Amino acid sequence: MKVLLISGPNLNILGQRQPEIYGSQTLADIEDLVNKRAKEWGVTIRPYQSNHEGAIIDFIQQERSAEGLIINPGALSHYGYSLRDALEAFPGGKMEVHLSNVHAREAFRHNLVTAPIMDGVVAGLGWRGYLAALDALVPMLQERHGRPTSGDAGAPGL
Ligand code: DQA
Repeated sequence: MKVLLISGPNLNILGQRQPEIYGSQTLADIEDLVNKRAKEWGVTIRPYQSNHEGAIIDFIQQERSAEGLIINPGALSHYGYSLRDALEAFPGGKMEVHLSNVHAREAFRHNLVTAPIMDGVVAGLGWRGYLAALDALVPMLQERHGRPTSGDAGAPGL
């Protein structure tokens, strides 16, 4: 099973960027953590980051055979209608992650145009939010593909 791990604008500078809000982990650190957890699930992660909405859309279209995706769209979540359309057209399972609790921040961050077409949204859990998203997504996909798991008790590390 393949799951895309997509990061939008400015997430390439995680670690240096407002660590009091986004944490001190770099994007490579987060990708490593997700990769390790994915291996325990027997899932392959395909990471991708871009600062450009169109490039992210191209990637989603090219990778439409992947069973699922986890995306932190960065600020595109608040206004990226083309990205929303691309995500809506992606047939697999989809989870949105925000490191910070966007609902507790500036008003412009409260509106998430991508969130309504996702299977789930995680916000405010920092890097742990990515693992939470993966741990929810994989059993959901397994069920969808007719491979019921032993339930969450079977999740790695739980
Ligand atoms: C973010 C929240 C967005 O509002 C912001 O523009 C980001 C990061 C988060 O992970 O908390 O770039 O998506």
